[in-house]
Amino acid sequence: MNRPTLETQRFLLRSLEDSDIVHMAELIFGDPDIGWRFGLVADTSSPDAVVGTARHWIEEANSNWATGGWGAWAIQPRGSNAIPERPFLGFCGFFDPDPPIENHELAYGIAKAHWGQGIATEAATAALAFLFQETEARQAETVCHPTINLGSSRVLQKAGMRLRGQIDYCGSVAAGHGLFNHFGIDRADWLNWHASTAPSSRLLPE
Ligand SMILES: CC(C)(COP(=O)(O)OP(=O)(O)OC[C@H]1O[C@@H](n2cnc3c(N)ncnc32)[C@H](O)[C@@H]1OP(=O)(O)O)[C@@H](O)C(=O)NCCC(=O)NCCS
Repeated sequence: MNRPTLETQRFLLRSLEDSDIVHMAELIFGDPDIGWRFGLVADTSSPDAVVGTARHWIEEANSNWATGGWGAWAIQPRGSNAIPERPFLGFCGFFDPDPPIENHELAYGIAKAHWGQGIATEAATAALAFLFQETEARQAETVCHPTINLGSSRVLQKAGMRLRGQIDYCGSVAAGHGLFNHFGIDRADWLNWHASTAPSSRLLPE
């Protein structure tokens, strides 16, 4: 599948482009309130590292679209397609799983100016709907630090994911970060959850 665009109630989830490297670097990984929250899976140790991380995450998303038919999106307001510098509120989608996670790993980040408006929840809900409606994925997983990612834990619960336990994520225990909360949802649970909530998002025609 090419890189699809999703439409939610308020947003477009569109492909991540090279022009988004600067957004990902400045608004996500380079923001002192955000970058460190990606901890062990994003190098934010210097301005060059931040740009490299932003480029790497976009390349990984697009490589997964090319080979697996799933990936990640940039989030922009609906109705802003005509703006040449396509607006960027944040990103959301699926990335290669980091050990010991084995399945599509959900990740997102929202630019700080837009926190608290339900953007991450709306985007994560649409991303999960895409995964289970348009691909043959059996489940999605992710992790949150139990104390520094409380907002993210709430987003995952609102998007239908469930706490499965705690895991040593990418060497988090040896690195002194302790155990991470492990969230997941499988296809059957998602179908039940979707039937009871019926969130609205749709795949736009190419
Ligand atoms: C976590 C993040 C994605 C949330 O984005 P957002 O668009 O503001 O999220 P939403 O508005 O959809 O929902 C946030 C929820 O978390 C709650 N929340 C936020 N901060 C919280 C905190 N410190 N403790 C408890 N709950 C918190 C909000 O009240 C809201 O829940 P509610 O709707 O029940 O009131 C955003 O803050 C972010 O980008 N953080 C840094 C990156 C990050 O942590 N990514 C996830 C890595 S695991």
